[in-house]
Amino acid sequence: MIRKYIFGEPFETEAVTEEIRTEAGLPDYGKISEEEGFSFSYWMCEEDIVYGLGEANRGINKRGYCYVSDCTDDPNHTEDKSSLYGAHNFIVVSGRETFGLFFDYPARITFDIGYTESDLLKVSCEAADLKLYVIEGENAYDIVKKFRRMIGRSYIPPKFAFGFGQSRWGYKTKEDFLRVLQGYRKNHIPLDMIYMDIDYMQGYKDFTVNEKNFEDFSGFVRQMKEEGVRLIPIIDAGVKVEKGYPVYEEGVEKGYFCKREDGSDFTAAVWPGDTHFPDMLNPEAREWFGDHYRFLIHQGIEGFWNDMNEPAIFYSREGMEELKAVLHKYLEEEEKDIPVWELGDRIEGIANHPEDYKRFYHCIDGCRIRHDKVHNLYGYNMTRAAAEAFDRIEPDKRFLMFSRSSYVGMHRYGGIWTGDNKSWWSHLLLNLKMMPSLNMCGFLYSGADLGGFGCDASRDLVLRWLALGVFTPLMRNHAAVGTREQEAYQFGDTGDFRGIIETRYRLIPYLYSEYMKAALQDDLYFKPLAFVYPQDSFAAGVEDQLMIGDEIMAAPVYMQNAKGRYVYLPERMLFVKFKKDGLYTEEILEKGHHYVEVALDEVPLFIREGRCIPAAEPAQTVAELDTKELKLLGFPGAEYLLYEDDGVCKDYEKPENYRKLKKTN
Ligand code: GLC
Repeated sequence: MIRKYIFGEPFETEAVTEEIRTEAGLPDYGKISEEEGFSFSYWMCEEDIVYGLGEANRGINKRGYCYVSDCTDDPNHTEDKSSLYGAHNFIVVSGRETFGLFFDYPARITFDIGYTESDLLKVSCEAADLKLYVIEGENAYDIVKKFRRMIGRSYIPPKFAFGFGQSRWGYKTKEDFLRVLQGYRKNHIPLDMIYMDIDYMQGYKDFTVNEKNFEDFSGFVRQMKEEGVRLIPIIDAGVKVEKGYPVYEEGVEKGYFCKREDGSDFTAAVWPGDTHFPDMLNPEAREWFGDHYRFLIHQGIEGFWNDMNEPAIFYSREGMEELKAVLHKYLEEEEKDIPVWELGDRIEGIANHPEDYKRFYHCIDGCRIRHDKVHNLYGYNMTRAAAEAFDRIEPDKRFLMFSRSSYVGMHRYGGIWTGDNKSWWSHLLLNLKMMPSLNMCGFLYSGADLGGFGCDASRDLVLRWLALGVFTPLMRNHAAVGTREQEAYQFGDTGDFRGIIETRYRLIPYLYSEYMKAALQDDLYFKPLAFVYPQDSFAAGVEDQLMIGDEIMAAPVYMQNAKGRYVYLPERMLFVKFKKDGLYTEEILEKGHHYVEVALDEVPLFIREGRCIPAAEPAQTVAELDTKELKLLGFPGAEYLLYEDDGVCKDYEKPENYRKLKKTN
């Protein structure tokens, strides 16, 4: 049962696709106040668990902290942070009473989940203009599935996107890309994608390619594809302000950029220097921006990543003027009177400053709306611009698309990566814990920068993180300029890296099949243990193991120098350890607690009692995988329903896409 309540005059976010009639009155759960803005309060019991919030900090159970949905370009994902890049306002309270809540509200909204008062769940926002959906079901899992049905089918990428991808901010020339390709091919490490970060562009201008570094770009794209690798360029939200640059000129002429109150185009500095933000919320501007992806598609490009779309602002012109005035004032003061910390905060605070988001406006169907009131929809609509354009350009073909910023609804148009993490063990664990929450909010195609984006990675961290990445639909190693090089061939003994990435390719028939089933049935690819074993009270507290699809459980090692880890089995399972050179070991483990040894070059997984999974022989690319002759791992007599298609077209519903496999011995 889903009930919808409307407060005030909400902005139409198009997050929800199902028709749901509006109820009169108030929800049966909690207390609503419209006295100061809007708030929803609910007293939790001790045993209540709160799931959801998608891309958010901390654990699977969100209790005990305060989270703010306010899409933010903050690369320091420390434990104290309350906002990351996404805004996914869906939670499920599971315990004495079990119900789901979706707050469809596109501005800043706070989820205080037992932080200010341990038992009080309080969701509050500034304006009482929102849609609140209250979802009931048999249990938390059932509620999540109802929510997913309500927001429409999750994005489905092409099959090659299940391969491994290498990225690094700093690859500039053809030679840089060829070096990466050779590094992989020479070491026989599978690779399907190399990502192009901002340096492929001419002066960081969207929809341009640096002609000096990429003479005959389409020829180069073709050459790489012949080697089995797709180039995946980045597109940034801000359009460089530069006379003669057609995207800029057109945007100005047609009035497609976000404007200041006085009607002038708002200017913010991002990578290219001064930029204007395309008005992604304006359908015409969205169509115009999306059509520009054609420039790269016509040169053979089949996938993109959309970045800086919170939108990130290094500084605005107004913000810089204000800062300069403050600095001038200090120049006249005696050193001892200068508050150094305040000064530091002031300088640092110039980026992504909340005041800047009040300085520009969108124009939607002739109505003007201040950006901060719809802030969390920007990345969503940038990605929608791209996806809608793909449908116009090649309607029958799937494109790879993922974004940094997002809101519920964007899950229909693309996936996400979790932004600028660091080469920290704690971020490996954060990656693991975030995955099921993202799935609950519709984001199935997702993953983190494996090995960590910021800071220098160690060999063991990259290996352990890749071993988690084996299971994340988006498996990409990405790092920031200036950090230690962390491609899989940089650390010696490359066989260890090959073994782990090959394990991904061996498992692709299973992982792809489970992804597709999850997407087609509005189900979860990653589940917390509690969703599969609702009666098991110990399982409810396990946050470092995940169920994947219907057959397996993953329990990655996430601590440095650990030779293995403790794992909890909610039922009897087959413990499989994938080793390099195509080897693996199997051992039946009984329900309960175990310590399992896992070497740095091994990938552990657990197959549920009575189930089996298909595995292929490894290959260098997804296209080369032989899925006719699949080996079945698991319990004798078990059956598996395999989903397989051409990985390109959109005819998902064909019955031939399903094939029953049986493990006979
Ligand atoms: C942002 C992105 C990162 C990218 C960098 C340069 O920080 O999150 O992935 O490498 O910009 O484009």
